[in-house]
Amino acid sequence: MEPILKIRNLSISFKQYEKGTKQRKIQTIRNLSLEILPGQVAAVVGESGSGKSLLAHGILGILPYNSQMKGEILYDGRTLDKKRAEELRGREIALIPQGVSWLDPLMKVGPQLFKGKKDAQTKTRYREALARYGLGPETEELYPFELSGGMARRVLIASAVAEKPRLVIADEPTPGLDERTAVRILGHFRELADEGAAVLLITHDLRLALTIADQVTVFYNGETIEKASPEDFQDIRRLKAPFTKALWTAMPEHDFKAAEIEGPGDVGGDA
Ligand SMILES: Nc1ncnc2c1ncn2[C@@H]1O[C@H](COP(=O)(O)OP(=O)(O)OP(=O)(O)O)[C@@H](O)[C@H]1O
Ligand SMILES: [Mg+2]
Repeated sequence: MEPILKIRNLSISFKQYEKGTKQRKIQTIRNLSLEILPGQVAAVVGESGSGKSLLAHGILGILPYNSQMKGEILYDGRTLDKKRAEELRGREIALIPQGVSWLDPLMKVGPQLFKGKKDAQTKTRYREALARYGLGPETEELYPFELSGGMARRVLIASAVAEKPRLVIADEPTPGLDERTAVRILGHFRELADEGAAVLLITHDLRLALTIADQVTVFYNGETIEKASPEDFQDIRRLKAPFTKALWTAMPEHDFKAAEIEGPGDVGGDA
């Protein structure tokens, strides 16, 4: 089976000026390779600042202007460049952005969702998506500032998945949601995968990721320090990197034994 998304040796760096004209290169992601087959949920887990959002933005071709990307990204076996990503985004490829600030503050929810389309079919599809996340049609009449954080997040998710995407990139989709809603939303990602989509789930929450993931990539400071299957997390001895072990130990069901093993220590490379 051909992967829906295939990433080979992806590196992302930034050029920054310091003290006037002196330039500095900041290496964020290094040599990342990742494949997601149809039907798979791939989780990328890592702490804050490890490069998770950059990965999402790199795939979608929306990195900041001072960035540099190397390596190869293939979607359906063909190079996914900026132009193609732009064409597919919002149709075949859906991004669930990390920040709810991606909503336009001056536009009511309804028109933002329908994106100019006025036909009954589109409206029904989006209404069904909203309803799926417990949001009634009255939500369409609200401005983003009238939504709670959790509601805004559910609007973003509904908006992303209403078009039945083949590739879902969910960047930290659950903060601000109660446990039950978070679990339901992840369950829905699982369903999308079971129907044939590829899902990239970006999160710092290993425990939630393990409820639906088929493969787990652990990021530390831009480097892939572990690739594991969910089964590997049943036994800490099957995990290799100290940071992954620390994540495992910090899971509530593992009884907060974090003190017994070493912290992330020397796993991070040269930063
Ligand atoms: N425009 C930029 N210029 C320079 N460095 C940047 C830029 N954007 C991001 N970075 C750096 O890249 C690194 C990774 O950032 P990224 O947003 O991908 O982290 P993250 O894993 O998504 O974190 P979080 O869990 O907090 O969302 C950070 O160290 C950040 O400072
Ligand atoms: Mg992020």
